Amino acid sequence: MTDPDLSCTIAGVRFPLCIMNASGALCVTREELEALGRSGAGAIVTKSMTVEFRKGNPEPRYYPFSGGSINSMGLPNLGYQTYAELIPALKAFKKPVIASIAGLCEEDFPEIARAISKAGPDLIEVNLSCPNIPGKPQIGYDFDASERLIRKVRAVVDRPMGVKLPPYFDPAHHAAMADVLKRAPVDFLSLINSVGNALVIDPEKESVVIKPKGGFGGLGGSVIKAVALANVRAFWKAFDGRIPIIGVGGVTSGTDVFEHLLAGASAVQVGTALVEEGTGVFDRLAAELRAVLAKKSYPSSSAVVGRLKEL
Ligand code: SIN
Repeated sequence: MTDPDLSCTIAGVRFPLCIMNASGALCVTREELEALGRSGAGAIVTKSMTVEFRKGNPEPRYYPFSGGSINSMGLPNLGYQTYAELIPALKAFKKPVIASIAGLCEEDFPEIARAISKAGPDLIEVNLSCPNIPGKPQIGYDFDASERLIRKVRAVVDRPMGVKLPPYFDPAHHAAMADVLKRAPVDFLSLINSVGNALVIDPEKESVVIKPKGGFGGLGGSVIKAVALANVRAFWKAFDGRIPIIGVGGVTSGTDVFEHLLAGASAVQVGTALVEEGTGVFDRLAAELRAVLAKKSYPSSSAVVGRLKEL
């Protein structure tokens, strides 16, 4: 049997590999973005960009532990004008470039989106879910604000756009956001951002492990995989598979990728594992996924999408 095909197509854009970085992980600077370009990653996803350059929250602001990581980075980034200048050069790596945008207020989003759309990324991912800006609630938990914002961004971009949502924990909230997306459609979903406002404690030191927000931060890695899979599945079902989904959360092995595909993701993003392992993670995950698919006689990753059996 020939090697399983791990490419995918999202909103009309072909990805050579269905595995890429999550926004935030090793994707702030030009050097980091170029390293993603040279790596086996199926795309280059930028850090969520704001209007102005941001240093982010005080350090320590990222802490890995056995089950994953907690972070409160606070959107450190170069500002959208710098990313707009970088995007044409990133496209030379011949893989899709996804521009992730964020704002500190509602009006920031269309300003950034308009400019970044002109720079020509293949896709725009609108981050409605950063949990780490003190005093700024996650927009994705405000359904009216989310709808307004999607409409405002949609009006100024000429690229496929998607939203990166926070985790929802109740079917009523999955349904409420699905209703928003039926009224204000997007081209893809990235599910999920970190599980916000968690608290990790070092019992030896009797202390929190990160400095911002009294130690509260977004949880990533293996500990959130089940929450990510549930959100992928809920939105895949809400749209009968008609909106492509990028699964994010707990991807540390080829089997994790396979589970995201079964739940309904067309591709996955990798955060904690990328930070911990470096850009070699993409080749490892691709090899492991190929082995899983070959063993189960699947010809491609796309043949798996949504095939989860229910009992
Ligand atoms: C951060 O920069 O604080 C993380 C970004 C995010 O979770 O959206």
